[in-house]
Amino acid sequence: MKNILEAPFMVEMIRTVTNMYAHGWDERNGGNVSLLLDEAQVAPYLDVNAVVRTIPTGFSAPALEGKYFLVTGTGKYFKNVQYAPDVNLGIVRLTDGGETAQLLWGFTDGGKFTSEFPAHMMSHMARLAVDSENRVVMHCHPANLLAMTYIHTLDEREFTRTLWQMCTECIVVFPDGVNVLPWMLCGTNEIGEATAEKMKTARLVVWSLHGIYGAGRDLDETFGLIETAEKAAEIYMKIAHLPRVNTITDDMMHQLEGRFGVKAREGYLD
Ligand code: 13P
Ligand code: ZN
Repeated sequence: MKNILEAPFMVEMIRTVTNMYAHGWDERNGGNVSLLLDEAQVAPYLDVNAVVRTIPTGFSAPALEGKYFLVTGTGKYFKNVQYAPDVNLGIVRLTDGGETAQLLWGFTDGGKFTSEFPAHMMSHMARLAVDSENRVVMHCHPANLLAMTYIHTLDEREFTRTLWQMCTECIVVFPDGVNVLPWMLCGTNEIGEATAEKMKTARLVVWSLHGIYGAGRDLDETFGLIETAEKAAEIYMKIAHLPRVNTITDDMMHQLEGRFGVKAREGYLD
């Protein structure tokens, strides 16, 4: 058996959550990440028939039956993951139509997957239905996006347009825009279902007064998506209280669509 701590997916996950912490997006235990893995990816590193323990999920996810996920643990600090990955991360396989998670590796202190497991698994289902290559769901608490939800309308078209106007390349990176949920109680199936519904039409879902969810094909892409939106929100927070003399117009954004071969969300540009 190969050393799982040297598996490319493990190295990439540890680097990513360490970087998220370094960006200030994950204070204390804030944030959680899940990465969909193929059995062929994990089989060289662990005995897929050796189930350490089973953990009920509290929801059903039939489309994820038999699927493997590397996921962050509940209550775990991203800053500590690199020093004790086997305590802070786990690899689970879903069974019983998604109602049971079989722990195959990790959470060695008796811990379990993130309290936001419903939002992660339901978002994976929603994104896989749109893009079969989607493998990552990422949640964190970036300060500027969060701040923006206190002072900006939560209207999705307006919120998206404001972010697009803050950096020229925003519309290229997230032409599908950002969807926005009102404040909801976190860690519940309800917020999971609402997040997944929003994930059908965009890869970024803002949780008002809490944080953001991103989805993508790999950890880099998903990190970059949140990084770009957060940068735009930072610029907004720097200028929101100042008179605006210049801006990125809809005409400019139409030019960007042509130059980069992307199509802005229907009805979002004039
Ligand atoms: P967990 O520690 O359970 O992952 O929760 C962190 C969080 O950000 C909740 O929204
Ligand atoms: Zn959170």
